[in-house]
Parts: sequence; structure tokens; C-alpha cells
Amino acid sequence: MAVLITGATGFLGIRLLGLLLAQQKPIIALTNRQSRTRIEGLQQALRQTGHPEPLVNSADQWVSLIDIELAENRLGLDPDTYNRLASETEEIWHSAACTSLAPRSSRIHRINVDGTRAILALATEAARINAHPPLLRHVSTAFVAGGRRSGVVTEDELTDAFGFVNAYEESKYDAELMVRQWAAARDACAVVLRPSILVSDQPAPGGHAQPLHFMMGLAALAIAALQKGTSARACFRLPSSAAAHINLMQVDHAAELMVSAAAHQTGPGTATFHISHPDEVPLTTVTELVESVLPLDVQLVPEMPDVPTDLERVAYDTITGFLPYAFFHRHYDRTGLRSQGLDRSLAPVTVEYLRRGLTHPNQQPVG
Ligand SMILES: NC(=O)c1ccc[n+]([C@@H]2O[C@H](COP(=O)([O-])OP(=O)(O)OC[C@H]3O[C@@H](n4cnc5c(N)ncnc54)[C@H](OP(=O)(O)O)[C@@H]3O)[C@@H](O)[C@H]2O)c1
Repeated sequence: MAVLITGATGFLGIRLLGLLLAQQKPIIALTNRQSRTRIEGLQQALRQTGHPEPLVNSADQWVSLIDIELAENRLGLDPDTYNRLASETEEIWHSAACTSLAPRSSRIHRINVDGTRAILALATEAARINAHPPLLRHVSTAFVAGGRRSGVVTEDELTDAFGFVNAYEESKYDAELMVRQWAAARDACAVVLRPSILVSDQPAPGGHAQPLHFMMGLAALAIAALQKGTSARACFRLPSSAAAHINLMQVDHAAELMVSAAAHQTGPGTATFHISHPDEVPLTTVTELVESVLPLDVQLVPEMPDVPTDLERVAYDTITGFLPYAFFHRHYDRTGLRSQGLDRSLAPVTVEYLRRGLTHPNQQPVG
């Protein structure tokens, strides 16, 4: 029997893989067919994310890879491979997703919603063949809370009443709903893990940038195009609330908390954990970071300027799926972690920490 993991090449997924590997159990990594990932590629990513060499080498013994397409029927596998996979499935870590913050995209729905449905179908087939359902560990997001700006979001809360800021949030909400329904209908064990925004002071391996790097890369492109080679700093007015803060969580800690939180969950029903930092980061920390990495002076303003500059127009269009967060000041309840004794204090996420990740010599430059 084996532990299955999707999304093992991802920014978070590679850390989950490292921790599962340390358990010395057979692992099947269900990798994106498009990427043609091989074991050497996974080992290289493990190395780049600081995993010790003996652990990296042990992947040869414990990890096998199967190429899949999440959004296809039977994950795009032939019936024999699919049935064999189902019969070997004891536990599933579903981390793969499309994390684009584009306002609308059918790809987001296909990968996050249809893909989760396909993973649940595999889990159902595994339950039929093995006469008991596999343990399901589903990576969701704290952003299933959608458009809710303030207050405390509890872990049992899953509502569409506040609407959604972007298609990603909505797709993750739909996926989480399906996971809960799947577990309830079968008396199966599901753990829903809801990380906030994941960050690192190390470069992201492979093509997977951390979200802040991606956002800053877009900003750098816009500035370069609109400043037309001049070295002057541009001004950017960010519509925001003075109370705004965001929750940034070190990705290594997040992966550790997820694996620890899931470890003791084997009984029927869904357990949900916010994987968030105990301390919120003021929006001004992010703007300070932006100013230190890009030739940009950010001014916080209460509403969208009547006459935006060319740069602002491009930026507002490009980060539509992100802009509303500059008004959010909600908190994520961490009762789940507390109940497991995992609610320890964490080092703060500072401008220096974030800057190291974005300006590391091995990191593709932001600009
Ligand atoms: N990063 C964050 O800040 C954050 C915050 C909250 C929640 N989350 C959640 O955490 C999970 C992991 O995020 P991440 O940051 O590791 O994402 P990521 O770096 O973007 O990685 C996405 C992973 O999904 C795989 N994938 C994408 N499309 C696929 C397909 N069609 N078939 C099979 N595999 C596919 C990718 O494979 P390839 O590498 O081969 O393309 C990659 O391994 C996601 O569920 C995400 O929603 C992330």
C-alpha cells in the first residue's frame, strides 16, 4: 500500500513530499503529464529546498511516479493502471492546483474542481477495491473565506455568502465542499488543510514561483514597459484600508504543521485546520517590500483614483484578482492547531525575510 501525492513538484508540494519521504513508506507521486517530471527532477527540487542528501537519495527507494492529467476522466490513465493505482491507495495528499489569480479562467475550474472530483473518484474506487476508504488529505486555502473582509473566520465555516474575489477562491471553495460531502457520505476520514499565503526566504524550485514573486514580476514588467528605460521611480496609488493586514506563512512551517495535524486524524468525518501565522502582517510591510525591490513609490489611498496613470491602469487590470485584499483585515481561527498542541509561536515574517526570497542569488530576478 502507498501514500499518493499530487502536486509534488509545487512550491508547497515539494516540502510535503520531503516530509512524507521521511516516514519511509512507499509514495506514488501523481505528476502532471505535461511536465514529464522524472525522479531526478524531484530529487533536484528536494535538494534546492534544503532537504538533506540521505533523504534526497532515499527517493529512489520510496518514490515512484505516474504521469496523470488531473482534469481527465480516470486521470488520463488506462483502466489497468488506474485499477492498480486504486488498489494500492492507502492515503492521498491532494496538493495539485492551478493557483492563478486571473479573474476568470476555465483552466482554474478544470484543474481545481474537476481535478478534485477525479481524485475523489479514485478514492471511491480505492474504497471499493480495498473495502475501506483511503485517508484523504486535501490542501485547500484560507481564501475559501472569499470576499469576507473582517471578523474571525472559523474552521467549520464554508460559505459562499460573501462572494469570491477571484475564480481561484471559488474553485477551491467548490473543491472543499466536494471533499466534505465525499467524506460524509462514506464515513471516511478527510483532513482539510487551509494555508494562508505561503512565502519563503529561499528561491522557489523549478518553474514554481512563490505568489509574491509572481506578483512583483508582473509589476516589474509593467514598470519597465511604461517607464521606457528611464531610471525614475514611478508612483503607484494602492486603494486600500488603513486597517488592512494579510496573513503570510513560512512555507516550510506550513508543510510541517500540515503533516503533523493530519498524522492523528484517522476517524470518520472532516477535520479542518487553518494553517496560518499567529501574527498578521500589516499591508505596509508588503508595500515597504515592493518599494525596496522595485523602482516604485506606493501611496495608500482610500479609493480608486478618478484619473489613474498609465501604470496604475495597467496594474489595476493585471492584479484585479488581488486588489481587494488590500481592504481585508480578517483573522483565521486556529482552534484546530491549538487542539493538537501545534499552536506554537513562529518567527515573524519581516520585510528582510521576504526580501531574501525575492533577491536570492539563485532566484530569477523580479525585474
Ligand atoms: N502557494 C500558496 O501561497 C498557497 C496558499 C494557500 C493554498 N495553497 C494551495 O496549496 C496547494 C499547493 O500549492 P503550490 O503553491 O505548491 O502550487 P504550485 O507551486 O503552483 O504547484 C502546483 C502543482 O500542481 C501540479 N499541477 C498543475 N496542473 C496539473 C494537472 N493538470 N495535472 C496534474 N498536476 C498538475 C503542478 O505540476 P507541474 O509542476 O508539473 O506543473 C504542481 O506540482 C494548492 O492546492 C494551492 O491551492 C497554496
